[in-house]
Amino acid sequence: MTLSESLPVTERAADPAGIDLAAFPADFAWGTATSAYQIEGAVAEDGRAPSIWDTFTRVPGAIDGGHTGDTACDHYHRWHEDIALMRQLGTNAYRLSVAWPRVVPGGDGPANPKGLDFYDRLTDGLLAAGIEPSVTLYHWDLPQVLQDRGGWPERTTAEHFAAYAALVAERLGDRVTQWATLNEPLCSAWIGHLEGRMAPGRTDLTAAVRASYHLLLGHGLATQAVRAAAPGARIGIVNNLSTVEPATGGEADRAAARRMDGHVNRWWLDPVHGRGFPADMREVYGVDLPERPGDLAAIGAPLDWTGLNYYFPQVVTADPAGPAPFARQIDRPGVPRTGMNWEVDASGLETLIMRLTEEYGARRIHITENGSSYPDTVAPDGSVHDPERTAYLTAHLAACARAARRGAPLAGYYAWSLLDNFEWAYGYDKRFGLVHVDYATQRRTVKSSGRRYAGIIAAHRSR
Ligand code: IFM
Repeated sequence: MTLSESLPVTERAADPAGIDLAAFPADFAWGTATSAYQIEGAVAEDGRAPSIWDTFTRVPGAIDGGHTGDTACDHYHRWHEDIALMRQLGTNAYRLSVAWPRVVPGGDGPANPKGLDFYDRLTDGLLAAGIEPSVTLYHWDLPQVLQDRGGWPERTTAEHFAAYAALVAERLGDRVTQWATLNEPLCSAWIGHLEGRMAPGRTDLTAAVRASYHLLLGHGLATQAVRAAAPGARIGIVNNLSTVEPATGGEADRAAARRMDGHVNRWWLDPVHGRGFPADMREVYGVDLPERPGDLAAIGAPLDWTGLNYYFPQVVTADPAGPAPFARQIDRPGVPRTGMNWEVDASGLETLIMRLTEEYGARRIHITENGSSYPDTVAPDGSVHDPERTAYLTAHLAACARAARRGAPLAGYYAWSLLDNFEWAYGYDKRFGLVHVDYATQRRTVKSSGRRYAGIIAAHRSR
């Protein structure tokens, strides 16, 4: 029995949440999303080598509570149970990432058969359950051995990424059609190399800009490699975008908002849509790009789909003393916020979907992540009631429906996340799951938000 079948008839019969479900196509992908390092655990098993996150989690003070991904949700051993949870939710799609250090422990060179076997089993398990895998090739877990050789600021990392992508596509490409090259390259480049809050923990603008360039080059080269290995593949890239508004109408804040928009949105969108790197931002960074002939064509090759991760809007003010882009987000008083202290604004999701549609001509859009962290508590009867997450989910799905009504080619929504998991520098205390994880026992409990999601999916399906 799926969760929706266990809902009261009144909740099943009609859309329980007031979302315009008729706006979504019949074959809409209703999914959940996770990533390898955040859920798999088993970091030293079956030949996996350390990634930059295994290293970074050992840096004193880098991660709240000193947490690591060593065990995480133990998904490496519990993937059967996790597929059963997806079935309970009634989802028909699942976004996962492949761990490069599991598949190519040496960073470059031959594949580790046991690493590929894991994703092979997972793919088969998903397909047998009627769930389409959407495979992301890089969700921040660079093999440490490549970091030791310079990491993303070096061109060879992009070339090795394409070779690794080819190995994965050769193995899974007969069953997986939905591929993403990178997840949120902004975080790898800006947070990992400029702000230092993520692996590899650098604070160097030149390294950050070079990393951003080679990440996007890696996207372009991996796109070619996957297309060659798996001719039926549909390939996209996943960016985390924000709406950006100035804090005041003054010229300094308006210019700051343009720079922040360049930093978080245009720098990532323009090149992959064949427009090259934005000239204004090149000037803001003042760092020469390591360009070679042919790179821009590879980076800008047409995408089959675009992935949008949306969490919060940004309201910014000028910050001349700060690092590039010399703009910083302000905390507006009285605005609802999640447990991450991120502003809640579902209309931003509609705005960004329409921007991808109208300004960038996206052919097909997937909301590859969207979700919220709140401090959940387990009731004495073992249930987890999370009304704020439920409201966030509902409001954001309603925003998706509005965009679809306005003509956006919206093909899927993947809730972040299936499970509570390792939230990077915040450790395990920030919970984004539709399913609660008790880390001491690895017991999974579907939250009320998961039940709501199941009800929405069932209502759409029964239309
Ligand atoms: O947990 C992350 C995920 O890995 C990437 N996107 C944002 C999520 C929430 O912070």
